[in-house]
Amino acid sequence: MALKKENVMTNDFLHSAYGGESMAHMRYLTWATMAEKEGFKNIAKLFEAIAYAEQVHANNHYKEIAGNADDYTVTAGAVFGTSTTVDNLQGAINGELHEVDQMYPVYLNAAQLQGEKGAERSFHYALEAEKIHADLFQQAQNAAKEGKDMELKSVYICPICGHTVLDEAPDKCPVCGAKKELYKKF
Ligand code: FE2
Ligand code: FE2
Ligand code: FE2
Repeated sequence: MALKKENVMTNDFLHSAYGGESMAHMRYLTWATMAEKEGFKNIAKLFEAIAYAEQVHANNHYKEIAGNADDYTVTAGAVFGTSTTVDNLQGAINGELHEVDQMYPVYLNAAQLQGEKGAERSFHYALEAEKIHADLFQQAQNAAKEGKDMELKSVYICPICGHTVLDEAPDKCPVCGAKKELYKKF
């Protein structure tokens, strides 16, 4: 469902969130390669899986944008860490916490205020996933600081909302209700 044309704030926030999620997607893939080189195979897997969750968020936001084929300049915050995996993980934690504490609560409230149901759902999905991402990246960093890889078997991502869980997918996604079989395994 397209946005009402007058709701420029929600529309702007959707563009910005699309930009931020798109960059996060690529950045996590870059950091996955760097983690792999440092011998952190599982941390690399975590980055790769969460990169997919950010892609899900970007796609969700994109579909809610009331857009046409004209240019649109997007301003979106980003982290540019190119150092060690421990430092990159700090960048990841900072980015996720910014989304959890500032960005998505503000965007979500704007969408609610403007009665934009689709944007509200898209921001809600992202907010719930970013909380988990911040926590998982913190666990990864705790291990990496001791020179150890993170302990995990696999990572599962809900392709509808980006919900992220270690080792086994739930019967039903707690955020969007998607079935277990739909989760993508990394
Ligand atoms: Fe995200
Ligand atoms: Fe995230
Ligand atoms: Fe979900």
